[in-house]
Amino acid sequence: MTQHQPTPAQAHVLVRGQILHYLADPGPGDDPSAWEFFDDGALWIVDGRIHAAGPWSAINANMPPDVRRAAVFHDHRDRLVLPGLVDTHIHYPQAGVIGSFGRQLLDWLNDYTFPAEARFATYSVAERTAEFVVERLLAHGTTTASVFATVHAHSVDAFFEAAAARKLRMLCGKVLMDRNCPDNLRDDAVSGRADSQALIERWHGRERLRYTLTPRFAPTSTPEQLQAVGELFAARPDLHLQTHLAENPAEIAWVRELFPERSSYLDVYAHYGLLGPRSIYGHCIHLSPAERREMAAAGAAAAFCPTSNFFLGSGAFDYAASTAAGLRVGLATDVGGGTGFSLIRTLGQAYEASQIHAAPLSGMRGWYLATLGGARALYLDEHIGSFQPGREADFVVLDWAATPELAWRMDNTRTLAERLFALMILGDERCVRATHVLGEKVAGTSA
Ligand code: GUN
Ligand code: ZN
Repeated sequence: MTQHQPTPAQAHVLVRGQILHYLADPGPGDDPSAWEFFDDGALWIVDGRIHAAGPWSAINANMPPDVRRAAVFHDHRDRLVLPGLVDTHIHYPQAGVIGSFGRQLLDWLNDYTFPAEARFATYSVAERTAEFVVERLLAHGTTTASVFATVHAHSVDAFFEAAAARKLRMLCGKVLMDRNCPDNLRDDAVSGRADSQALIERWHGRERLRYTLTPRFAPTSTPEQLQAVGELFAARPDLHLQTHLAENPAEIAWVRELFPERSSYLDVYAHYGLLGPRSIYGHCIHLSPAERREMAAAGAAAAFCPTSNFFLGSGAFDYAASTAAGLRVGLATDVGGGTGFSLIRTLGQAYEASQIHAAPLSGMRGWYLATLGGARALYLDEHIGSFQPGREADFVVLDWAATPELAWRMDNTRTLAERLFALMILGDERCVRATHVLGEKVAGTSA
């Protein structure tokens, strides 16, 4: 065997459980070559990265006895071990806004969201919220997220401090917003650019962190600000960019009024150079087939936020049509429009959204969407999202029978596909027995 043999001096972690990961999108037909499942499986992790994933018997036999003795062992037999869940769109400052009764998007923003974000002018508010949110993400099995901060540069510092302390792979950016918002949340094209540049220097590429240019959405930026962001994005192809697109009919009508010379909402972003690989747009509900194709051709991604979309009455994202058009799609909570941090509950609602379009999302494809699909949407699949050798060992351990209802239901399943589907519909954060980051357990109730 020519494979490099790790030594006991390196940090070894051995996990036994039901290992599931994806190598590709199973598509609407559940293509079985898209995943690997080891019913009695193992992960062998060396220095925080996957060394091998496979059947327990083979991995155990391959481990030199001294390495096996030195390894930290986690016995998760009969539990599902998946790559860490990926939330492709979340507003950490909105943790205290979840479940605010409101009409639709624009009123909800004015009545709840902007006042909550204004409180982030005080650094300690940002610091306490960032600690809370990062802990809650891990408790829900989410190990990577694409995160909106507020307009205050120090809100990004607070989030990245909390993420770096836990060695997380995270994306975050300062919101850029220089019109149509309260005065105390307004930057300008020059200060927004300077603040973003300073944050890029401070954080981008530090450990596992990456900076994301974050114009809130077209209505809250002047053409000058959009132009400045586009220039920065063009100059730095290593950056990500996140914003919102086509969430709500009143929002879309407003964009048409503000940018009458542009042919569509998407065309506003395309015109200012905000459309390309590593741009992630939240929602993308009300798009034409041609717009989906344009986004796909540009390499951009859509964040599918079903709990938020149902909560705010925005509509149902068409996952089947979007992926058929070749669009990258990740799953997202969109807290605080979304109703919680659980990507498992979010998957249940993704299924409901898919039914509205008469193209039901299967369990096999659903767990792809929550793991490798999200990593691909964020262009992070070289690092996370699967258990291929060399990937960072972020993973979640799920209990199939965390509630009496799940246990009862699982007794009536025959296939993996049935079990995964039932877990996506009946499961929630009570299923999360452990969350591991770079091999180390950071949350959960298991030993
Ligand atoms: N569009 C612009 N800002 C926001 C936001 O904070 N949440 C949601 N759901 N949509 C937005
Ligand atoms: Zn959002």
